[in-house]
Amino acid sequence: MDAVLPVTVISILLGALIAVIVFGNYFRKRRSEVQSIATSEVLHANQKPSKPPQPASKKSHSKPHTHAADKDANKRHHPLDVNTLKGHSDSVTGLCFSSDGHSLATACGDGIVRVFKLDDASSKSFKFLRINLPAGCHPMAVAFSDDSSSLVVATHNLSGSSLYMYGEEKPKAVGETKQQPKLPLPEIKWEHHKVHDKRAILTLVGTTATYGSADGSTILASSSEGTDIILWHGKTGKNLGNVDTNQLKNNMATISPNGRFIAAAAFTADVKVWEVVYSKDGSVKEVLRVMQLKGHKSAVTWLCFAPDSEKIITASKDGSIRIWNINVRYHLDEDPKTLKVFPIPLHDSSGTTLQYDRLSISPDGRILAATHGSTLQWLCAETGQVLDTADKAHDGDITDIAWAPRTIPIGDKQALVLATASVDKKVKLWKAPPNPS
Ligand SMILES: *[C@@H]1O[C@H](CO)[C@@H](O)[C@H](O)[C@H]1NC(C)=O
Repeated sequence: MDAVLPVTVISILLGALIAVIVFGNYFRKRRSEVQSIATSEVLHANQKPSKPPQPASKKSHSKPHTHAADKDANKRHHPLDVNTLKGHSDSVTGLCFSSDGHSLATACGDGIVRVFKLDDASSKSFKFLRINLPAGCHPMAVAFSDDSSSLVVATHNLSGSSLYMYGEEKPKAVGETKQQPKLPLPEIKWEHHKVHDKRAILTLVGTTATYGSADGSTILASSSEGTDIILWHGKTGKNLGNVDTNQLKNNMATISPNGRFIAAAAFTADVKVWEVVYSKDGSVKEVLRVMQLKGHKSAVTWLCFAPDSEKIITASKDGSIRIWNINVRYHLDEDPKTLKVFPIPLHDSSGTTLQYDRLSISPDGRILAATHGSTLQWLCAETGQVLDTADKAHDGDITDIAWAPRTIPIGDKQALVLATASVDKKVKLWKAPPNPS
């Protein structure tokens, strides 16, 4: 009896100690990385989204409206405005859709990355996953990597820019699997600091590399505010190559959807294009400068690749949009040709053409979405004709736009959806204007 007692006491103490260590660790980890999973936001607290656009202006003679109220009503009821994602407590700096279109990640000045589940874009509430970034980091841009459970976040502070890759944490504890596992719990899989020395990252774009012998993994391009662009492997965080535009200053850089080309807008009229060369084993061998788009008379402010990766669309301060064919034999010194030139159909009150800050083409290649300040415009990519304009799409400048890569449900319909982010702390969802035919 006397001999048994100490053994029992020791085992109990030992057991308690293990429990404290294991659970202490577990809870500490969760608190620092995941705040809450299923916070629902009630949207449309005082508006009825199911109502069709109000013919308010026609009825206004019967009832005197205040000017402000009319303005508000117009703003809310732009016919393409589907929804507003609220709950951000600072400027939204960037956004990105997952490849299935059902997750929308946002970077916000409040230090939080939110991943919204968009099972129905017209829904009155969205569940979102909340990722608190390490203290003092200002998220600038987000990009999904491989699937909707891994996300790369570019942050900035005084010491420079960092990249953090958040990946799904495998459910292990019993308490964890009890919760619905729809939204994965992220943990940091890799991180890099001072990736562009002290410079901020302006854009971060990822794509699935499928061109040639590429192995289908996600590659990402981060563009600094300087002249450098870095190519990253999404899953491992490996640096795959650096390029320097040797131009003025980058405004943005992007990768073609198939992972073959990188192009940058750098406050100059000419646009440089690089090719990512893949080895037989699917890895990136090198990044070579291959083409230059020459034709604009003034700085190119933004550009995007067509979904087929064979065209580039550029917007310039010279008041025009150009569509370029880059499917040329550049190794035989054949230059990319301008297929089309459209005037930018946006003017200030004195008739001066305004510049586009952002440009994005719909996944079917038919609609160009473009922004200037808080104005959002949809153009026919074939003719350059204006399909629709939302004058005050946001209560402040638009900071980022993205099309969902495939149609997503709006009520019982499937539609192409554009998301816009703004300094007004909101993200809006817009359905595509009908195609002219
Ligand atoms: C900036 O962020 C990095 C990485 O998160 C951190 O190590 C560093 O201490 C931060 N610097 C400042 C000045 O906040």
